[in-house]
Amino acid sequence: MMAPRPEESESLHPGLAEPRTHEDWFDYVFYEPPPPPHLPPYDIYLAMDKEDPERRRLDHSRNQYHSALVLAWTPAVRHFESEITELLAANEMAPPGARLGLLIDGPPTVGKSTLVKMIGRKFEQGLRRDFPERFAPRLGVYVPVVYISLTDQVTPKQISLAIARYLSVSTSGTKDTVDDRVLTAITACGTQLLIFDDLHFLDCSHKEGRASNDHIKFLANHTPCTIIGTGVDLEESPLLSEGGPSGPVKSNTRVKSPPSSGPRTQTAGRFSRQELAPFTLDSKTEILWWVGVVHSLENALCLYRHEKNSLTRRHWRYLHARTNGSIAGLHALLRRSAVRAIAQGTEAVTREIMDSIVLSYAHERAYAKVVELQSRQSAKSRSKLNKKPSAAEGNA
Ligand SMILES: Nc1ncnc2c1ncn2[C@@H]1O[C@H](COP(=O)(O)OP(=O)(O)OP(=O)(O)O)[C@@H](O)[C@H]1O
Ligand SMILES: [Mg+2]
Repeated sequence: MMAPRPEESESLHPGLAEPRTHEDWFDYVFYEPPPPPHLPPYDIYLAMDKEDPERRRLDHSRNQYHSALVLAWTPAVRHFESEITELLAANEMAPPGARLGLLIDGPPTVGKSTLVKMIGRKFEQGLRRDFPERFAPRLGVYVPVVYISLTDQVTPKQISLAIARYLSVSTSGTKDTVDDRVLTAITACGTQLLIFDDLHFLDCSHKEGRASNDHIKFLANHTPCTIIGTGVDLEESPLLSEGGPSGPVKSNTRVKSPPSSGPRTQTAGRFSRQELAPFTLDSKTEILWWVGVVHSLENALCLYRHEKNSLTRRHWRYLHARTNGSIAGLHALLRRSAVRAIAQGTEAVTREIMDSIVLSYAHERAYAKVVELQSRQSAKSRSKLNKKPSAAEGNA
């Protein structure tokens, strides 16, 4: 049964869930986040009673808008966009066999899933603009992008079933039957970009891990598409190495890792691996990247009394410490602060409001460490100052 479209029901959840079918994906491609609501002058807004339905509706639409906030085309997103676009172009008419794919490896919540979906969406929007005839209703449906979010302990058959469901192909029958239908459907639907999100679910320790890995290789060989994978600690996964020690990985965006020293798998010969790491402030360029992201999110706030660029100019370092350089932490902190600023009537994202928000366990723990380090350092420098002999004492 087809899910009702948003315009068919006012009571549907207005947010987007992870796409599981090509219809979900098309919704994502066409989805436009709520625009900033038009605000009446502040004195008129203040004159409205808090329970006034008009004010409640206005606040609700501002909350909806802030809950989506903007997605930032960070330098890392742009870098991977150009890598993927180039791969797609280089692979399009390549001879059958292993086409080069890309694995994006990074710790949790650095924005891997968001990034691949932003890039996949833009790629499809470009195709819709350049080749509208391909999307015209016909016997088969044109699905240039397939996005599969893997589930834990995924088996080869489950991977094929997920693609089959996505492409509206029958899921009955043996693995071989479903595999066969999936390969035919991928070609018939014109799929060019096949995205596997959360590839680390191909767990080494699970008996199906190796088999799923071999299945990815099988798909890479037998479909004409470019495969992009994301995951956590992929270097340690059976996709790239059959085990053995690997060198430490520098935490930075866009840095290729040193090769693992375990025996290579066949997928290792088909995929390049690049890292996506939290933002760091180790150089002027990195600081500019971070400040740029803060600026693009701050600029999107829809509040009456927020001092323009106050976060960008005064609080960028605090925001980095507070979120450990994580785009997820920053996005969440600003979304919640904006909602709280409206509820409390301060109408500005201030240091006080940001301090009062409790972020994820991981972000709060990392921030607690920064605060502890800072207080130890300032205690140290205070005691140094106290011990410093005065000029007279020094001469004595
Ligand atoms: N480019 C971006 N601009 C603004 N916010 C972003 C961006 N990328 C990610 N985020 C924020 O970070 C959140 C987490 O991102 P995402 O789920 O993509 O991370 P992930 O690396 O896939 O995490 P996990 O490893 O846990 O799956 C998003 O819901 C969004 O709020
Ligand atoms: Mg993810």
